[in-house]
Amino acid sequence: MQIRAFRDTDEAAIIALWERCGLTRPWNDPRRDIARKLAEDPRLFLVGERDGDVMASAMAGYDGHRGWVHYLAIHPDHQGQGHGMSLLAAVERALQARGCPKLMLMVRNEHPTLIDYYRRQGYDDGDFVTLGKRLIADD
Ligand SMILES: CC(C)(COP(=O)(O)OP(=O)(O)OC[C@H]1O[C@@H](n2cnc3c(N)ncnc32)[C@H](O)[C@@H]1OP(=O)(O)O)[C@@H](O)C(=O)NCCC(=O)NCCS
Repeated sequence: MQIRAFRDTDEAAIIALWERCGLTRPWNDPRRDIARKLAEDPRLFLVGERDGDVMASAMAGYDGHRGWVHYLAIHPDHQGQGHGMSLLAAVERALQARGCPKLMLMVRNEHPTLIDYYRRQGYDDGDFVTLGKRLIADD
């Protein structure tokens, strides 16, 4: 897998990947999510490709205190071969290079086994609850 920054021509393939991986939600318009990321910090929107085909994504950001990663996805045809770990490691390196001290991620309650996946990669549960408030409705 080659890891590079997102290009405009990736949009359709990335949305298809997110749909295939079950990451889209009715209240998050993926096109608007991509447009917002490109307007903010496109260098941290990573894409994995193999033989020219998009097969992975990770949308990361750094707010000056914590880094976050969203939309971590490996196409089902390529899962279980270590690509998820390498892409997450690439995100960690990119954020560390900017001086980001800690990387955060959210796992939906409907995927409890994923929590073990991240624990094995050195992520631990913090003593906190993540709260969110919608500022712009996409739906
Ligand atoms: C989660 C995901 C990114 C992992 O990528 P991957 O390339 O399949 O994972 P890796 O090959 O790097 O994983 C290595 C290990 O994690 C385990 N693992 C992978 N996905 C897992 C899951 N969903 N639950 C539990 N364990 C998982 C593998 O069994 C493997 O364990 P092993 O080395 O002991 O055999 C990928 O499965 C995916 O895109 N899933 C759908 C989208 C998703 O849920 N994204 C995360 C949102 S928070």
